[in-house]
Formats: sequence, structure tokens, C-alpha cells
Amino acid sequence: MIAEKEEILPGIFRFEFEVSEGFLRKAEPGRFVQVEVSSGPFPVTRRPFTISSRSTDSIEIIFEVVGRGTKTLAETDEGQSLRMLGPLGHGYKLNSGEWLLIGGGLGAAGFPGLAASIDCGLMILGAATKNRLLTIDGIKTRAITEDGSSGMKGLVTDLLKTVLWDSFSNIALCGPIAMMKAVIEMMPVESRTVTQVSAEARMGCGWGACEGCSIPGADGGYLKCCTDGPVLPALAVNWDLWEGIHR
Ligand SMILES: Cc1cc2nc3c(=O)[nH]c(=O)nc-3n(C[C@H](O)[C@H](O)[C@H](O)COP(=O)(O)OP(=O)(O)OC[C@H]3O[C@@H](n4cnc5c(N)ncnc54)[C@H](O)[C@@H]3O)c2cc1C
Ligand code: FES
Repeated sequence: MIAEKEEILPGIFRFEFEVSEGFLRKAEPGRFVQVEVSSGPFPVTRRPFTISSRSTDSIEIIFEVVGRGTKTLAETDEGQSLRMLGPLGHGYKLNSGEWLLIGGGLGAAGFPGLAASIDCGLMILGAATKNRLLTIDGIKTRAITEDGSSGMKGLVTDLLKTVLWDSFSNIALCGPIAMMKAVIEMMPVESRTVTQVSAEARMGCGWGACEGCSIPGADGGYLKCCTDGPVLPALAVNWDLWEGIHR
């Protein structure tokens, strides 16, 4: 059931869902849910969303309206129940040591739950404009926007030029493919080995049956975003090929 609904930025919503105890136990940072946004004929498939955070009896998702599925979801009222599959996929490996979180746009949607579970030293967030910049309380954050409406003006990679990479034992990265590839390319090699990316791919089933969510792997094969990921070691992905497919 939708316990709470809030439009946190124009066209960006936070939904809190009441869920069972069993569901909550498995709602680890980085895992996702497949939400049946409507019981009508559209859309045919459920829509995937990262579990943003969890409390004692609920989980939250944060999503942006980008098409008909998310528009339908945004129009759903508090108190209504929606069918949901999950928690699905593999989340972050919650290693000890200080973490650097790097998020582009809605890529930061999964960071509240992750930050609560780790030693988060710094979060770097980038967005096109301040209306697309998520804020997460209680975490040291540096922000950059493409139009300069909040924080520095420029791209996430501009802000990262000042980061001392070797002071972080772990890195979490989530955002558009081109942004993640650019960030990985600018890191020292040692930092790449401790980077986990939260991948997004168009999904059908969400549980490994349809192969709709394939991501080119570094070893020449393919990874299923839904069951091998969505959180993957940065070095497991063939970034050139993946970016090429989406260009
Ligand atoms: C594991 C996972 C976690 C996700 N977590 C979040 C989240 O926390 N918050 C959030 O806002 N969105 C998240 N997404 C993306 C979200 O699922 C899509 O925005 C949504 O399915 C779009 O549905 P739609 O019917 O509104 O749009 P559609 O009409 O299906 O598509 C509209 C536009 O969105 C693009 N799009 C659709 N699905 C995806 C996708 N999976 N990846 C990249 N682009 C897509 C399409 O190419 C098209 O340009 C996640 C996706 C995955 C795979
Ligand atoms: S979405 Fe069907 S296999 Fe991944």
C-alpha cells in the first residue's frame, strides 16, 4: 500500500510503500522492485525502481516521470495498493572503509539507504539543473549542475577533478551510461577495482527469464542487469560496447 506520496521536485516523486517484514529483511541497498503501475492493459510489463531506503515497516522509491508508466504511477493516490515483485537483484557489497558516492541525476535515488549502511565520507551529485538535483540529509555533499543553478556549474567529472581518490576504500557510482563511463575513465586504476556501479537497462521480467536487460560484459559475454546486477563491479562491464549500444 502507498503509505505516503510526495512530489519532492517538479515531476520527481517519493513513494513510501508499506511492506511485510519478510520483504523488508531482503530490501538491501542497491536491490530493486518491479512495480505493477496499473492493473489495466497498459503497461504490459512492470517498471523497475531502486529501493531508495527502508524503515521499520516500509520502503521508499524515488522516481522521475519519463513516460506513460511513470506518469500512471505518479497519478496513483495514497492508500492505494499496488502489486510489487521483489526485492530483486544483487545490491551493494557493504565493504568496510570510507565510501565515495557519485550520482548523476536520479542515479542518486538509491543512495539514502546505502549511505545509512556504510561509512560515507563524501557524496558528489550532478544534475542538469537544481530541479533535478536530489538532496540527502546528513551526508557531506558537493553538488554541480550543468546550468549552475545549484553548486558549481559544469559536469560531475569537473567536480571530481578535485577528489583525492586514494582516500576512499569504496566507490558507488550510478547515473547515465556516458557519465559512468567518463567517471571510470578519469579514475586511477586502483579506484576502478573498488568501484561498484548500479546499472540500469530496459527490463522485461526482472528475474532472469527474458534476457531483455543484457549488458555487455568485460569478458566478452553478457550480464543480466536484473540477476547479475543491478549492482556490478565497474570492471565487469564492457563500457565501450555498452555506451555504443545506447548512443
Ligand atoms: C534496476 C533499475 C532501477 C531503476 N531505478 C529507478 C529509480 O530509482 N528512479 C527512477 O526514476 N527510475 C529508475 N529506473 C528507470 C525506470 O525504470 C524507468 O524510468 C521507467 O521504467 C520508465 O517507464 P515509463 O513507462 O514511464 O517510460 P517509457 O515510456 O518506457 O520510456 C520513456 C523513456 O525512458 C527511457 N527508459 C525507460 N526505461 C528505462 C530504463 N530501465 N533505463 C534507462 N532508460 C529507460 C526510455 O528509453 C524512454 O526514453 C530504474 C531502472 C532499472 C532497470
Ligand atoms: S529483465 Fe528479463 S532477464 Fe532481466
